[in-house]
Amino acid sequence: MKITVVGTGYVGLVTGTCLAETGNDVLCIDIDENKIKIMQQGKVPIYEPHLDLLFERNIKAGRLKFSTSLDEGLDHGNIIMLALPTPEDEDGSADLSYILGVAKDIGTKIKDYKVIVDKSTVPVGTADLVSEVISKETNVDFDVVSNPEFLREGFAVDDFLKPERIIIGSSSERATKLMQKLYKPFVRSGNPIIIMDERSAELTKYAANSFLATKITFMNEIANFCERVGADVDKVRVGMGTDSRIGKRFLFPGIGYGGSCFPKDVKALYKSANDVDYKFHILDAVIEVNDVQKRVLIPRIEKYFNNDLSGKRIAVWGLAFKPETDDIREAPSLYMIDDLLERGASIRVFDPEAMPNVKAKYGDKISYADGMYDATLNADALVISTEWSIFRTPDFIRLKENLNNSVIFDGRNLYDVEDMAQEGFHYSSIGRKEAN
Ligand SMILES: NC(=O)c1ccc[n+]([C@@H]2O[C@H](COP(=O)([O-])OP(=O)(O)OC[C@H]3O[C@@H](n4cnc5c(N)ncnc54)[C@H](O)[C@@H]3O)[C@@H](O)[C@H]2O)c1
Repeated sequence: MKITVVGTGYVGLVTGTCLAETGNDVLCIDIDENKIKIMQQGKVPIYEPHLDLLFERNIKAGRLKFSTSLDEGLDHGNIIMLALPTPEDEDGSADLSYILGVAKDIGTKIKDYKVIVDKSTVPVGTADLVSEVISKETNVDFDVVSNPEFLREGFAVDDFLKPERIIIGSSSERATKLMQKLYKPFVRSGNPIIIMDERSAELTKYAANSFLATKITFMNEIANFCERVGADVDKVRVGMGTDSRIGKRFLFPGIGYGGSCFPKDVKALYKSANDVDYKFHILDAVIEVNDVQKRVLIPRIEKYFNNDLSGKRIAVWGLAFKPETDDIREAPSLYMIDDLLERGASIRVFDPEAMPNVKAKYGDKISYADGMYDATLNADALVISTEWSIFRTPDFIRLKENLNNSVIFDGRNLYDVEDMAQEGFHYSSIGRKEAN
């Protein structure tokens, strides 16, 4: 099949590459000329595990191409997939200007029947809006399908190739059949392609992300409560997670959720509900708790240094909003760095993949280490904000030698509290007692 993907970010590039992998002829379009140039030179512009292999293979096979021209995109694909940004607008709603802008362009350029597929996360009613915008410009026949994407950054290729389910929101039999044909190779083991109306499909994505954000936030509140009553959240987590109604995943407490999806999607669903006079109380609380949780380590760091952080050198391990990605959008690390800088501390950071993105944001306001131990050299404390695997079993002797004080503030509960006490560290984590 001939596919055009408009928007070649984390979702669009993975979508385009994986669709090429099953034999489709894919053209990826982006307005970012530099990004397109990099890809035309055979380089992947983002860090996403295993993407490079598929990317190279499909370029070589001539199934994956790149362009900045939407005209070319419309000439090429029978299916036009939109993987465009839907960032948070000033009032918390999803900014639809990218989607509706491209929809208008499609309307002016469309020459024959196309299925326009919305893979971006969009509020209920967007498929109808996209249809309206296109229809204003043309009489050519087309269908709009809502096909929300559930891939996780860091596991995106695997998630796309082996999805737990595919959601197709469509009222057109013709478009639905085409979408089923497109996704059939990805669900050979029997995972479902679930067909529903466009509005339900759009809401499914928001409901799923908001539920997961709520689950994380609930555990963060349990952790905060544990600290006040001397319970250990790790034990509570395991105890709860073995109940199959609850499940083991998404129960790890920490310094809040971040990333390009949960924060904006929770806010957008809250705002959508507000727009129809429904106050989504639970999401209001989730937003509020998460805002505080992102900074939960700051008062502890201040207390340790007698409320004076000026001139203190803080090492930060982990900058990406989660491991296995270079994405720093809404990363809790950034909130902490801002707060620490504001209090006069100097910051030296290390992350296996996200350093270039952080450098682009902070420049010389902070310093960048060559490795995880280099970051801790002569630092007064170590703060951990992303649970990359390489941080899980560090050389504690080397750490003690490097640090001016044997103190770690761990926002991801990487180490055992008893072990840290034995190693002689002051160790503060989430929802557990402090060591020393
Ligand atoms: N990142 C995720 O893990 C993830 C997962 C599921 C769903 N989503 C949703 O998918 C959508 C895309 O997310 P993303 O993370 O891939 O975004 P992104 O910011 O990484 O990529 C968007 C791309 O669109 C391009 N673009 C912007 N305007 C354009 C235009 N007019 N024409 C062509 N290209 C244009 C940008 O240059 C960029 O490369 C969002 O709605 C997001 O909520 C994201």
